[in-house]
Amino acid sequence: MRTFFGGRLINSSSSLPDAKSSPEADSSVLQIWGGHPLQGHVKISGAKNSALVIMAGALLCSGDCRIRNVPLLADVERMGQVLSALGLRLTREDDILDVDAREISTSKAPYELVTQLRASFFAIGPLLARLGVAQMPLPGGCAIGARPVDLHVRGLQAMGAEVQIEHGICNAFVPGSNGRLKGARIYLDTPSVGATETLMMAATLADGETILENAAREPEVADLANFCNSMGAKIRGAGTSTITINGVEKLHSTDYSIIPDRIETGTFLLAGAITRSEFTLSPVVPDHLIPVIAKLQKIGVPIIEEGSDCLRILPAEKLRATDIDTLPHPGFPTDMQAPFMALLTLAEGDSIINESVFENRLRHASELNRLGADIRVKGNTAFVRGVPMLSGAPVIGTDLRASAALVIAGLAAEGKTTIQGLKHLDRGYDRLDMKLQQLGAKIIRVNNEASADAELHTNNSNPPASVSI
Ligand code: EPZ
Repeated sequence: MRTFFGGRLINSSSSLPDAKSSPEADSSVLQIWGGHPLQGHVKISGAKNSALVIMAGALLCSGDCRIRNVPLLADVERMGQVLSALGLRLTREDDILDVDAREISTSKAPYELVTQLRASFFAIGPLLARLGVAQMPLPGGCAIGARPVDLHVRGLQAMGAEVQIEHGICNAFVPGSNGRLKGARIYLDTPSVGATETLMMAATLADGETILENAAREPEVADLANFCNSMGAKIRGAGTSTITINGVEKLHSTDYSIIPDRIETGTFLLAGAITRSEFTLSPVVPDHLIPVIAKLQKIGVPIIEEGSDCLRILPAEKLRATDIDTLPHPGFPTDMQAPFMALLTLAEGDSIINESVFENRLRHASELNRLGADIRVKGNTAFVRGVPMLSGAPVIGTDLRASAALVIAGLAAEGKTTIQGLKHLDRGYDRLDMKLQQLGAKIIRVNNEASADAELHTNNSNPPASVSI
């Protein structure tokens, strides 16, 4: 069954719990009974942070884009609604998304949608490149930080755009008869992922050469560059700190497949480590996760590569404490900080975790302490003293990766852990609870507490040992 955006991103093979679909869904919670080892195989979905920006990049195309390996996420649904509001036609069947961007009916993105999904701000670059004009609401901050967009704006101004920000709207246009951006040499004060992606996309149709220096090196940046090049763009150096883009007149149709999600992969590795499990994960790109795999092996978790795109995790004898400093890629990824902290709560010894990328990304520490962890936070540094065990309790996820951390802790905590705040989790993880359940975790999603216990006690059958979805 083909599904059209503007309505709901639901297709025949699976459904996305949509917080707005029913009042009860807002109150849905995860219940986890810890202490059950995982086994079998888990299929990793396409990368959220590639899918969102590549969908925005489809605005550059004067034809059809077929995008494969698109994860089933609330954020993807929202990005689809933003593109549909701009006049694009989108249809989805399972993990294949078809985008027809021949017609862009407006340069004005809807305020209520952009403020719900900050990644939709990335569309400002392609809109300016295609139309020479864009009105994008400012995305605003979120739980983890102020999330400014000054680097995006300053880079577009360097390429000839005039930008005024008033009443929360970023009004941008390219003066001059042909309304075409001009190539420029731009140094980014911070290797911002979003700013690198916005400017790289804008430069694909600019007049002349653009050089981005101190650019972000995340794998999703290279994935976006490969997507744009598959449409005829001329981008070199993506994945390094200097990216060169030679502008072309227009970009043509493409059929492109997104890389696997390295953060989902890391999250499952941590779930395996904390439950002392053995299972396999694929498809994965091990090179995208070097700092995380190295850190896990250093603290005692055996991880082996099986073939080019499969990892096997094995039970650790014991978990040793370690220190973590989050950094732009290729350093330790900030998106893995919260999930990794959950694991370190049970390591032997003291760990020090320093969050240097975002200014408010340690809020999960207090919720982990409710589960019996021993964490002190001072500024952007968390001091984690390993404890012998965690015990289940009701907790609340404050943001996407914090919620994942609570799931990981719940898999090891004694007794029942109830996790609220699933709207965060569903933004960025493709059916996480279902995948964990199929690996043998005792985890269920319920719309309210009462039916949870009833449902679990009637369902004593063990989930299948090895299922991949
Ligand atoms: C992307 O966010 C990811 N989101 C984030 O993933 C990820 O944590 C982050 O990159 C860092 O890797 C998507 O790709 C959709 P940044 P982005 O611009 O682009 C400062 C997740 O959990 N900055 O690299 O917004 C900013 O304040 C999400 O999947 C400016 O100062 O991150 C931050 O301190 C969370 N001015 C630092 O740069 C700007 O104009 C890094 O932010 C832009 C950013």
